[in-house]
Amino acid sequence: MRQESVPHGGTLVNRMVTGRDLEVLRRESKAFRVMTVDAWVLSDIDCIAMGAFSPLTGFLTEADYLAVLENMRLQSGAVWTIPVTLAAEESWRDVAIGEKVLLRGKDGADYAVLTVESKYTPDKRTEALHVYRTTEAGHPGVKKLYERPPLYLGGPIEVLQRPRPQMFPEYYFTPEETRSIFKQKGWKTVVGFQTRNPVHRAHEYIQKVALETVDGLFLNPLVGETKSDDIPAKVRMRSYLTLLENYYPKDRVFLGAFPAAMRYAGPREAVFHAMVRKNYGCTHFIVGRDHAGVGDYYGTYDAQYIFSEFTPDELGIHLLFFEHSFYCRKCQGMATAKTCPHDAGSRLTLSGTKVRQMLGIGEVPPQEFTRPEVAKVLIAGLQEKAAVEL
Ligand code: ADX
Repeated sequence: MRQESVPHGGTLVNRMVTGRDLEVLRRESKAFRVMTVDAWVLSDIDCIAMGAFSPLTGFLTEADYLAVLENMRLQSGAVWTIPVTLAAEESWRDVAIGEKVLLRGKDGADYAVLTVESKYTPDKRTEALHVYRTTEAGHPGVKKLYERPPLYLGGPIEVLQRPRPQMFPEYYFTPEETRSIFKQKGWKTVVGFQTRNPVHRAHEYIQKVALETVDGLFLNPLVGETKSDDIPAKVRMRSYLTLLENYYPKDRVFLGAFPAAMRYAGPREAVFHAMVRKNYGCTHFIVGRDHAGVGDYYGTYDAQYIFSEFTPDELGIHLLFFEHSFYCRKCQGMATAKTCPHDAGSRLTLSGTKVRQMLGIGEVPPQEFTRPEVAKVLIAGLQEKAAVEL
């Protein structure tokens, strides 16, 4: 496999319409039927617009959708594991193939124009089973799927404007920008790190082990929609900045937000996350324990095993797999079962739920679990959130 990072599918997609074309499309779009879309769809539009979802140029057509469900590939053969779809209410059943639809946000702004190439009714249970490996509505991704309208519209989009970042706009980059930044930094190898959580010591450990062998780390937290009990992205962003300031070499790490929504699809989402990071210019990607998992729906290493269903060439990015890491009191350091001979009693492991509970009541987790500076930021952020919600 090549060392440099080639965008997934060969070229970086850019669906932004600019200049005179934009003026014309804006004018024409006044005559189009309007569909109001939610924040989730807007985040998909954003990722398609800037090429983070290359080679997608829009929402999946039925043929691509079925290929993704059944073969984890698009019809073109490119690896793609998560259906990126536009769900429409029953009232759209009469939309014509070839018709253009204006996609408007709840804020009243017009974001994109979809050219309808395909209109189909998904079998949501089949989709759930393929993508989430369960049909239970207790799974947050499945719940979301069941709640969506019944019809899917597929086809390419032309993007009039990208949604404005909700926070920390200076940490939003397009794949074109990150690629050029990595180049400027002289990084030939870059490891991508996906997270929807604060960076605890276990995360820090696996990032730094990876960083021992590559030139740079791209810390790329997902900041789109997550489940309500996950720590809000705004609070997490503050915690990442504090951690980087205190514990990471400035010239070896780059922080950028990933605006997508979280699917909680475990194994399939791990592959999707890897393809997206390839688009951002990463040559390597970290997959640890229960990547993108939730509850007990997936085995601890299922999100690693799934990669064996693809060839290294079709993935085009090096995977760095890590075992469950923890602090061991006897080793007096971070370790995994691969490097630590001691019993479970010596190992400090806390569940995400337990840590969130501690932080929520202002309790600082052990410093072997979370850096104290990070804990402080998280506690303050959660208190702020609680005050707003009162
Ligand atoms: S995720 O949903 O974004 O995957 P999280 O932010 O917790 O959740 O994880 C980010 C990455 O760190 C994932 O690759 C995950 O597998 C890995 N990870 C999280 N905790 C551990 C741990 N204790 N040991 C090893 N890997 C971990």
